[in-house]
Amino acid sequence: MSWGAGIAGVSSRSMARNRGNKKGATGRRRDVSAPSFWEQLYNRGKTGWDLGQPTPVLKKWLSGHRGKGEKVCILGAGNGYDAVAFAKAGYDVVAVDFAPTPLRYLSDLAHKSKLPIEVVAQDMFYLPKKWNGRFDLIFEYTTYCAIDPRRRNEYVALIKRLLNQQGRLVALFFPMDQDPTVGPPYGVSYDEIAQRFGRHFIIASEEWPELSVASRRLRELFVVMDRR
Ligand SMILES: C[S@@+](CC[C@H](N)C(=O)[O-])C[C@H]1O[C@@H](n2cnc3c(N)ncnc32)[C@H](O)[C@@H]1O
Repeated sequence: MSWGAGIAGVSSRSMARNRGNKKGATGRRRDVSAPSFWEQLYNRGKTGWDLGQPTPVLKKWLSGHRGKGEKVCILGAGNGYDAVAFAKAGYDVVAVDFAPTPLRYLSDLAHKSKLPIEVVAQDMFYLPKKWNGRFDLIFEYTTYCAIDPRRRNEYVALIKRLLNQQGRLVALFFPMDQDPTVGPPYGVSYDEIAQRFGRHFIIASEEWPELSVASRRLRELFVVMDRR
């Protein structure tokens, strides 16, 4: 399994062949922590994760949760469709990514639409301490599965420190049916989410959304969590 079209042009079969050595089809170790890894995918159009619009799952959630200027952060925002959806729904959005191409795209989009979106070019793992507690909400979609799985605890700690005491994580975890050691996208499991996030968050709701795009149906879990 992969991101629909297949990330980095790697087919499911070659992914299976490479299982265990955690290398890509070329045999080179993939450095998913480097902006250059993601930048070359954007440049080559190998963006199988990119829906070209916000997922209907988020659109539905936003229709019932209009914002009143609450601060939202989107880590690994990519081309920023989710950032735009939050801004249109009344939230004040900060979108973080470290690959130049989507950052340019999102900056243009934000500028043209005159929406309240601050676009930040930065490795999210190095966001400054002065950002601690800055956000009411963080939205996660296909970033957790994109980072090096050995950094997942670091990512959870990052989310926790960026949120204020009443802060909320709204997450659509994908892919729930895949090996967590081979990727990206690296697989996610329910037990792992419960264990890794459970120490820092209380799960407020969870569902297998009916509105997932067809290729992701029953492969993604929508979870809302409150900071402990
Ligand atoms: C699979 S894409 C998902 C993009 C977006 N969330 C979406 O759903 O379309 C992962 C994104 O995370 C970004 N990313 C990965 N590691 C990052 C890091 N350490 N700091 C900032 N951005 C990062 C990549 O550049 C890429 O745009």
